[in-house]
Amino acid sequence: MALTIRRAQRDDAALILDFIIKLATYEKLEDEVMATGEDIADSLFGADPKVFCEIAELDGKPVGFALWFYTFSTFQGRHGIWLEDIYVEPEARGNGIGKALLVDLARRCRDEGLGRLGWWVLDWNEPAIRFYKAQGAVMQDEWTVCRVSGAELEALAGEP
Ligand SMILES: CC(C)(COP(=O)(O)OP(=O)(O)OC[C@H]1O[C@@H](n2cnc3c(N)ncnc32)[C@H](O)[C@@H]1OP(=O)(O)O)[C@@H](O)C(=O)NCCC(=O)NCCS
Repeated sequence: MALTIRRAQRDDAALILDFIIKLATYEKLEDEVMATGEDIADSLFGADPKVFCEIAELDGKPVGFALWFYTFSTFQGRHGIWLEDIYVEPEARGNGIGKALLVDLARRCRDEGLGRLGWWVLDWNEPAIRFYKAQGAVMQDEWTVCRVSGAELEALAGEP
């Protein structure tokens, strides 16, 4: 079986949305997916995209993806990569595909002089946590994620 990692193209937008929904369903967060195929196509394949996607294929069949964008660390004074989503189809797991997607991003960090590769993982997602630790990831347990959205975001934006 030949594994390849390729950059996603505009006609992958529906496939990417399908992967996003499958990952969200695995994470029990499918009700939070508002993105449409058009949103994905515009954001990833419009003019001057700020978010990117790699597709993993086994013998030419898409079996997983990694969607990412650039971050910046003021401490390091360098850009990094934020891995927003990584997902491998259930029947394809355990064959080195997730690792190949992470290796691809680690190489990009090395080749572009980026300082960090980071991502969230839900605290109950123990298989993924074991997978990440096997790749050298160190859990940042002292940090808590903050988010302002919806009505609270509108209210904050409306403050004088
Ligand atoms: C997590 C995920 C991306 C890993 O991809 P994968 O293709 O199954 O993993 P790989 O086959 O590349 O595994 C690479 C290595 O991690 C190890 N590993 C993978 N899953 C593991 C697990 N559940 N427990 C322990 N080790 C694991 C493998 O043994 C392998 O080790 P090796 O390099 O020493 O052989 C995939 O299982 C997945 O999509 N899971 C559901 C969605 C998800 O949780 N996404 C992450 C959200 S934060």
